[in-house]
Amino acid sequence: MMRRAIERKREGDALDDATWEATIAAYMDGTVDDAQMAALAMACVWRGLDRSEAAALTRAMVASGASLQYPRELFVVDKHSSGGVSDIVSLVAVPLVAACGVKVAKLSGRALGHTGGTIDKLETIAGLRTTLAMDAFTAQVERVGCAIAAQSEAFVPADKRLYRLRDHTATVPSIGLIAASIVSKKVAGGAHAFVFDVKCGTAAFMRDVRQATELAQTLVAVSQQFGRRARAVVSDMSEPLGRSIGTGIEVIEARDFLRGEDADARVRDGCLQIATEMLALAGVSDPRATALGALRSGAAYEKFIEMIEAQGGSRAALEAMRVTARAHEVKASHDGFVTAIDAVALGHAAREWSTNEPTGGIRVAMRVGARVAKGDLLAVAYGAHASAKRVAEAFMLGGEAPAARPLAYATI
Ligand code: URA
Repeated sequence: MMRRAIERKREGDALDDATWEATIAAYMDGTVDDAQMAALAMACVWRGLDRSEAAALTRAMVASGASLQYPRELFVVDKHSSGGVSDIVSLVAVPLVAACGVKVAKLSGRALGHTGGTIDKLETIAGLRTTLAMDAFTAQVERVGCAIAAQSEAFVPADKRLYRLRDHTATVPSIGLIAASIVSKKVAGGAHAFVFDVKCGTAAFMRDVRQATELAQTLVAVSQQFGRRARAVVSDMSEPLGRSIGTGIEVIEARDFLRGEDADARVRDGCLQIATEMLALAGVSDPRATALGALRSGAAYEKFIEMIEAQGGSRAALEAMRVTARAHEVKASHDGFVTAIDAVALGHAAREWSTNEPTGGIRVAMRVGARVAKGDLLAVAYGAHASAKRVAEAFMLGGEAPAARPLAYATI
């Protein structure tokens, strides 16, 4: 069966639902080995999967493990980011949406490459647990209104094996395989509606708007085949989204934003856009004004505290968090404009520096497009081993202002 399936995909045929189901089942029970699965994955990279194949693969992957289910009267939303730098959207949008009365169940991952992971960030809050038993997770969603926990090993074991194999065999970049991998984990998480934040740009896994839009459309279409409501935003990731890069340092930025302190306009817009889409999917009328109201009243911040306390952390622990005192300033070497910021380099550096010092990392003071004079502060590197030189090398200065880039390229 497998040899024939590989041949057919190699020749560009679409495989039927039963073949996808049998392939994943056989891969999980060891009848199909890694060599055959890698060959099929490579054929998928070259030939692509149509929407119905992506849905069939998603269904087969969900069936490989456990799933959560919420009663329909408890409408639950979830969000997913395809990965970025200084992406604090989950930390902000989850409590913000819950503060507006919509339940949010967020299963998150860890850092991958230069991109940050919400679980690593949350774990910098003293006492906070991210490994929750499934019944404790669903009970918290019901009682508090939101929870953020690490993906359970019991969900979609086929994705864990297949993702590792794809990473090893350079077969990650296939829109169908990526969509099945993402949507299967969301479906197993049990929410009724998903918002996908598909990042696009030099620091994203998708570099080009056309491809990112195609992925966004596929994510929405496949989710809908599972009876889920879904929307996607294609958003820019050509520079860090917020001001802070690291783990605890990003929690501090999210905390201060939720507390109503001055926030960077780009991160504020990014968080509000995702929260607005989540509220709209839950049927909230005037979702943006509702979200702004929950921010201004302090309800979103109080919901963040409630979620942290339900997971073993405390208000005192969150409010005591400070960026590490070891600071290395990075200044502009000459007059000009910031023409680019290498967010991949900054993401890698901050990941290193925040490993032993959770509130170490980077704070960006100037964004792409800013006019700077020699000696102006560009960024600060925090941590005993942080290097101002490495951060300075990530800032490109030029004589002309770059063209402005929108934050959102498309909403599907
Ligand atoms: N993220 C996922 O979860 N899966 C992929 O295949 C790619 C990115």
